[in-house]
Amino acid sequence: MATWSAPGKVFLFGEHAVVYGKPGIALAIRPRVYVTVRKTSHAHHAKSPYIDQCFKELNVKGSVYINSQLPSSSGLGSSAAVTVATLAAINDEFGLGKTRDQIAELAFKIEKRVQKGRASPTDTTVSTYGGMFLIKEGTRKRLAPQNYHLVVGNSQATHSTARMVEKVADLKGKYPTICEPVLNAIEAITLDAMKHLDEPQYLGRLMDMNHALLDVLGVGHPHLSRLVLAARATGAYGAKITGAGGGGCMVALAPKNLKARIAGALEVTEGRALITCLDTEGLRKEKDA
Ligand code: MEV
Repeated sequence: MATWSAPGKVFLFGEHAVVYGKPGIALAIRPRVYVTVRKTSHAHHAKSPYIDQCFKELNVKGSVYINSQLPSSSGLGSSAAVTVATLAAINDEFGLGKTRDQIAELAFKIEKRVQKGRASPTDTTVSTYGGMFLIKEGTRKRLAPQNYHLVVGNSQATHSTARMVEKVADLKGKYPTICEPVLNAIEAITLDAMKHLDEPQYLGRLMDMNHALLDVLGVGHPHLSRLVLAARATGAYGAKITGAGGGGCMVALAPKNLKARIAGALEVTEGRALITCLDTEGLRKEKDA
């Protein structure tokens, strides 16, 4: 039996744009997903295309038990966390000798297949290594960890990343002369953010701008808009959709002394709030129960 855990993630900047070769900034957050794998002759696990693909890729059979405090299908990278932790637990249980880099690569391949070909390696990279990254196409740059105070608001409206990615692709196909400058503007925001990573107030303004551009790309949702406005009204430096949108979560960058107040405002605005911060640890072996 082997148990591994991996963290969730939030995109600070650049979701969707990363699918088109633009840079994005994302960071690992608590809570984590815990996955236990046991060698068995009959496969037994929750229905999940991600887990099925992990066993298929590594060509073994086993049982899986998942313990996740990370809400699924909410934009917090739970599918990537489940995928990397499952791969690591299979690797350990069956003594396959895969490296962390190979696990990250394989997890991305699986995400991409399940998302029908359109995915960036952001979620799988951040979940595997922990910390904060600038991601662009095949490259990743680890960024110095920052002590951000983050408040995540879950709209509880379900969404599908694959469907939202497809929606942006359709819009871009129909309105290329509008969508391309929007993606370029998101890129400009990410590049500007890179010069101000230790200035939360400045980053907050950039998050507000990024949010507006995600709305233009059609990945907004009335619940997310309400949560974003509630966070700003209670003193967040800035707030935006995080992840694929169309439901799922938003994230606010908050002054330390206001995060509880912002979380309270999100809870009364039909959301579930989560106060969180950067998790510098990626994949981690856990003690077997
Ligand atoms: C999903 O968390 C973020 C998207 O940019 C898709 C991806 O990067 O694979 C929408």
